[in-house]
Amino acid sequence: MDVKTAHSTYKINHAEMLSWVQQTADLCKPDAIRWCDGSQKEYDELCELLVSKGTFIRLNPQKRPNSFACFSDPSDVARVEDRTYICSRAKEDAGPTNNWVEPREMKARLKKLFDGCMKGRTMYVIPFSMGPVGSELSHIGVEITDSEYVVVNMHIMTRVGVKVMDTLGADGEYVKCLHSVGAPLAAGQKDVKWPTNATTKYIVHYPEDRAIVSYGSGYGGNALLGKKCFALRIASTMAREEGWLAEHMLIMGVKNPEGEKTYVAAAFPSACGKTNFAMLIPPKQFDGWKITTVGDDIAWIKPGKDGKLYAINPEAGYFGVAPGTNVKTNPMAMESIAKNTIFTNVGVTDDGDVWWEGMTKEPPKNLTDWRGEKWDPTAGKPCAHPNARFTAPATQNPSLDEDWENPNGVPIGALIFGGRRSTTIPLIYQAHNWNSGVYLAATMGSEMTAAAFGEVGKVRRDPFAMLPFCGYHMGDYFNHWLQFGRNIPNPPRIFGVNWFRKDEKGNFIWPGFGDNMRVLKWVVEKIQGKTNAVESPIGWMPHYDDLDWTGSDFTRQQFESIMIIDREAWKKELLDHAELFERMYDRLPKEFIFLRELLLSSLWRSPEKWSLEAGE
Ligand code: GTP
Ligand code: SPV
Ligand code: MN
Repeated sequence: MDVKTAHSTYKINHAEMLSWVQQTADLCKPDAIRWCDGSQKEYDELCELLVSKGTFIRLNPQKRPNSFACFSDPSDVARVEDRTYICSRAKEDAGPTNNWVEPREMKARLKKLFDGCMKGRTMYVIPFSMGPVGSELSHIGVEITDSEYVVVNMHIMTRVGVKVMDTLGADGEYVKCLHSVGAPLAAGQKDVKWPTNATTKYIVHYPEDRAIVSYGSGYGGNALLGKKCFALRIASTMAREEGWLAEHMLIMGVKNPEGEKTYVAAAFPSACGKTNFAMLIPPKQFDGWKITTVGDDIAWIKPGKDGKLYAINPEAGYFGVAPGTNVKTNPMAMESIAKNTIFTNVGVTDDGDVWWEGMTKEPPKNLTDWRGEKWDPTAGKPCAHPNARFTAPATQNPSLDEDWENPNGVPIGALIFGGRRSTTIPLIYQAHNWNSGVYLAATMGSEMTAAAFGEVGKVRRDPFAMLPFCGYHMGDYFNHWLQFGRNIPNPPRIFGVNWFRKDEKGNFIWPGFGDNMRVLKWVVEKIQGKTNAVESPIGWMPHYDDLDWTGSDFTRQQFESIMIIDREAWKKELLDHAELFERMYDRLPKEFIFLRELLLSSLWRSPEKWSLEAGE
């Protein structure tokens, strides 16, 4: 059938998809259906429409060319984990860490909600590819949505367009992604700036159908269904079936002065520094070292024929945390958002630019805050929402890796895991082997941030930074990782990091950001066999002298203070591990029980406060 978009006509021979779109339209009853072609014209037109609706504010073209700001409804500012469901046929397959409802019952509930939910709105059909179009590592989705905001964000975050449909052909596989803001308009009713359903939200996944249905939210991962819903929750179930990995990881290239490049993938929980690390600028004394970005949030990793692991970034843009981003902490992100960017829930200046906490020391005068009100800096409320985000095309990142769209992916040399921990976890350590590395990642904890619901600051276990994103039983997921390691001859080395240890006054001890290069250099040289390590009760650790301190005044004492292994704190840590294991006891790898015992006994054999000095 010939499908007319606003700017072109293309052919769709995929009968099953056409019928799904028609059935969806029959149920949702939109005023119009519009197929998307991914063109610049389409993007510009929809942005203009959003401006006319009052959703978008066009920013000053001199300061932020072709960029927009918008404020969400205060009830719709982040992912809603308590409203996120994995509706596998069997409850056991969703596991104890996911919400579950029997799929037929959930489908019945959603059918009621979706009946007429797009009245007064246009229904958009967005064909998109996660990963370079046509790559063997890529997968295709089609998102149906009634939100123009979603369409323009999907334009940046994924590859949208006609080529995707061509790749799909008459019977290609795709993930069905259905989204509605859940705010139908009665005849003549005026729309609000940020339509949402303040009382009912559902983010639902059917792993066996490879389908997603999202209702009631227009924000980020709740609504841009290619991201967390597809590229992590559904993809993780595909990956398990097919023998690969879908992970909440950044991917970066690390080039040394000799020109050798090592690719590293790292998993940190939401708002814990993936974007920063992926775009790191080495301290100026690190002559000849260069970091390049492949991705900042998601990695799809598959074993290659040569036994190495190859990773692609399935996304095409960055949906990054704005607060804290500035020319010092992340100059590459600042460059990436200089133009063609959508800002959500940031502050807006009186000359049509954006601002957020941490962008500059002194806030500019006359700011409008994320609630759309004149900001009072003395009132103690932030100007930008803590989970305010920018949506920017990856191609605007000056340090984008030359192979970021390589259809075969990039070879991964090391895996790094790190949470936000003010105590206990050292700055850097290396797991003894693959299995102990899987244990390290599985037992990772992090203090919660505004990127998800929950008590900010409280430590929660976030295995592999995947707790909110694993589409099946976490115990099965651990087993998949263990099995994966058995099947590759020379798996990447696994490291743990923690940039967030604090002193008694609550200040971060480690300077972080560019200085993380010192840790990264050790990691890369460690896997190349060019540097040393000390064996500690929990793994291998660099000595102060094993790190490159040129240009730094970080002292040996300070370093020791964030590398100490405090037995009492670790005993508490291991109790938490046991608690996590109890929750998923039915499918927990037996190895984990022994690995925990091993850790416990090595901690008992070591001094109360194990330090690098004493360890030698
Ligand atoms: P998602 O997009 O939510 O998955 O998160 P992300 O991991 O990409 O988060 P992002 O990089 O945007 O994290 C930003 C937060 O981490 C900000 O609060 C930064 O200040 C903080 N951050 C990043 N790197 C460092 C670091 O090296 N040290 C410290 N102390 N904070 C850091
Ligand atoms: C995260 O929360 O990990 C994100 C942002 O990357 S969102 O896409 O909203 O999930
Ligand atoms: Mn993320």
